[in-house]
Amino acid sequence: MKYGHFDDENREYVITNPKTPYPWINYLGNEDFFSLTSNTGGGYTFYKDAKFRRLTRYRYNNVPVDNGGKYFYIKDGDTVWSPSWKPAQTDLDSYECRHGMSYTKFKGAKNGIVTEVLQFIPLGFWGEIQQVTVKNTSSETKKIKLFSFIEWCLWNAEDDMTNYQRNLNTGEVEVEDSVLYHKTEFKERRNHYAFYSVNQDIDGFDTDRESFMGMYNGFDAPEAVVNGQPTNSFAHGWSPVASHYIEVELQPGEEKQFVFMLGYVEVEEDNKWESKAVINKKPAKEMIAKYDSVEKVQVAFDELKEYWDQLLGKIQVDSGDDKLDRMVNIWNQYQCMVTFNMSRSASFFESGIGRGMGFRDSNQDLIGFVHQIPERARERIIDIASTQFEDGSCYHQYQPLTKKGNAAVGGDFNDDPLWLILSTTEYIKETGDFSLLDELVPFDNDISKAKPHFDHLTASFYHVVNNLGPHNLPLIGRADWNDCLNLNCFSNDPNESFQTTGNKKDGKAESLMIAGLFVLYGKEYVNLCLQIGKQEEAHKAQGHIDQMIAAVKEHGWDGDWYLRAYDYYGNKLGSQENEEGKIFIESQGWCSMAEIGMEEGMVEKSLNAVKEHLDCEYGIVLNSPAFSKYYIEYGEISTYPAGYKENGGIFCHNNPWIMIGETILGRGDQAYEYYTKIAPSFLEDISELHKVEPYVYCQMIAGKEAVKPGEAKNSWLSGTASWNFYTITQYILGVKPSYEGLLINPCIPQAWDGFKIKRIFRGVTYHIEVQNPAHVSKGVKEMFVNGKKIAGNIVPVLSKDKAHSVLVVLG
Ligand code: BGC
Ligand code: NOJ
Repeated sequence: MKYGHFDDENREYVITNPKTPYPWINYLGNEDFFSLTSNTGGGYTFYKDAKFRRLTRYRYNNVPVDNGGKYFYIKDGDTVWSPSWKPAQTDLDSYECRHGMSYTKFKGAKNGIVTEVLQFIPLGFWGEIQQVTVKNTSSETKKIKLFSFIEWCLWNAEDDMTNYQRNLNTGEVEVEDSVLYHKTEFKERRNHYAFYSVNQDIDGFDTDRESFMGMYNGFDAPEAVVNGQPTNSFAHGWSPVASHYIEVELQPGEEKQFVFMLGYVEVEEDNKWESKAVINKKPAKEMIAKYDSVEKVQVAFDELKEYWDQLLGKIQVDSGDDKLDRMVNIWNQYQCMVTFNMSRSASFFESGIGRGMGFRDSNQDLIGFVHQIPERARERIIDIASTQFEDGSCYHQYQPLTKKGNAAVGGDFNDDPLWLILSTTEYIKETGDFSLLDELVPFDNDISKAKPHFDHLTASFYHVVNNLGPHNLPLIGRADWNDCLNLNCFSNDPNESFQTTGNKKDGKAESLMIAGLFVLYGKEYVNLCLQIGKQEEAHKAQGHIDQMIAAVKEHGWDGDWYLRAYDYYGNKLGSQENEEGKIFIESQGWCSMAEIGMEEGMVEKSLNAVKEHLDCEYGIVLNSPAFSKYYIEYGEISTYPAGYKENGGIFCHNNPWIMIGETILGRGDQAYEYYTKIAPSFLEDISELHKVEPYVYCQMIAGKEAVKPGEAKNSWLSGTASWNFYTITQYILGVKPSYEGLLINPCIPQAWDGFKIKRIFRGVTYHIEVQNPAHVSKGVKEMFVNGKKIAGNIVPVLSKDKAHSVLVVLG
């Protein structure tokens, strides 16, 4: 069953039934100021950091889900309704929610009134615009009452939802003209306030929640709205809110438009006050003036569209399959921008208070984003590397507001350092900008410890070399990428976190996933050394890689697949010998991508084993059989019921590792089949089962051993976005940036006749056509650039003054 449809031309998903199986959301904002918005108007807004600087309140874990948002109520006679259906939940004559590129549009109709709400955040602006259009489509004059409503969050979202003994006393507001200001804590340690405005005179307002709602009403029927009369309340403590009230008279066919703005202001310490206890409103007024008419809003909205045209225009495929094209051209790229911005902080599954920017997460997010805005990727790489220690280890997370490593979360996830080699080399291949390597980057956020960025990569590489275990395989530390495989943790206290609790200090557990990661990114490191003339270092590093390859072959192979790990006791995990957890996806993916034992047939055997033991109707599960009881020596992985999350769930992030492995073997049909199993647009028809948005990837789909296989959770903020984009564009469609130019090496289903792809690379436009007359999966037979045959399959970096055509013939 579907709840809407794709509108590819407008790059929108159009939801036509508000009762989606779960809230289907979108993100507004691209740099500093963000909002989450659901298909029924739920969500919240924050500046930079969803924990420390939250503007509006949102209630996670509520019944029903999705409570709190940017709400509008229309009172038309006795009927109260909302254009986004919620909060009023009155049946509408028609409803539509269009989630687009950084904007959302609602259109609701009831009893001859059509109301449209357009929400977006103009580029470079710290405010959200809500443009409301009300139109009378009836033949009579209509007098309606329009109420806006938001609830302020008292800035620190965690404190806001826990510390009521204080918070119910601190709330402060001001009201001037049509602008409702929120200034809680402004007089002491804050230099910021928020405001909610509308570009016309109002007929009333409320700023105190209970005065507006009534003590016993819900969001669906606030007392002021039901009464058709605001109370002009001023909040003093309790819960400050902001609601405008406007009486609107519309002749038949007439429409009126209002521009609401939810803004955030920072002021200089010595310029905070207009007069005693009256905040300096000048900056807010300037912001309001910037978009005080629909014409000005239109210009900003056009700019946003232009921005996305340009970003998405860098990679555009024409494969003949709409489902694939809309993933590559629109939604997957869009999601990569969102994960780049949010890391794992704020979604409808991540509360915005738990997690900052992850070291491994943010490095991986970059591989799907770097082509869009390389300058921002560069800055991010430096921020991340700054949280590394001199021995190569690093903080697992940092807070975006401070850019400092998060000591409470700590480190010792031994895969973390290697991802820095991935992000850095991908950045240089995309841009050709080797100067990043010379940039002085602090260790441990201490500028006195700054070294050239290249030294951070060296530290990453040798962190593995210096932390080998009894089988000469990498020590896992607290955990590797699978941070639920806690092999040195041994936790039996339900109140401690597997992620942060102390580990056994002599922990000798080893990871085959890190081994594969090390071999693959070690080779990248060597390659980079050669690019910059560090032959000796390349040679030395290669020696360590060769030893690792030997160790994997000797101690990491189980006969038909790669082992997953050696546990604390030195016992195998991911082996035929195990009763449960006989085979794991991560080591198959990484050792295959690293081509360890390729000549001996290990890669092929491993991927065949994945097909046989891990593949199912909805994707590839993480491990099999899933654990059915708690193993204290394995940790969090065995806490999840079988088939969910890291315990036998389809953890979508790692499926592309297998797809890439398949492309290395040249098995294009298999790679693409895996791709289509988890790509959201291919799952639209089973939305009822899948539950989450059909336009973005989710972290986890319940696996074959789950009670409800195919049901998904945790959409949006997942490394799944970047890995799938990377895989489809660079390994399946096979257009891969390299130091020398664009490497073309597709691996596609044999049935395909070919495809076309436009790629802007280092500022140069290439129109690439791949032809597949012999119906093979892989192998470039010949290549022509601007009609001339070239040797090999790398398109060199050509001149910017014109677009170039590339013809690729497979065979
Ligand atoms: C989840 C992991 C996640 C980790 C982060 C665990 O509970 O299962 O997917 O990476 O928490 O803290
Ligand atoms: C989600 C986390 O964000 C990521 O860091 C981790 O690698 C995966 N879960 C797998 O456990």
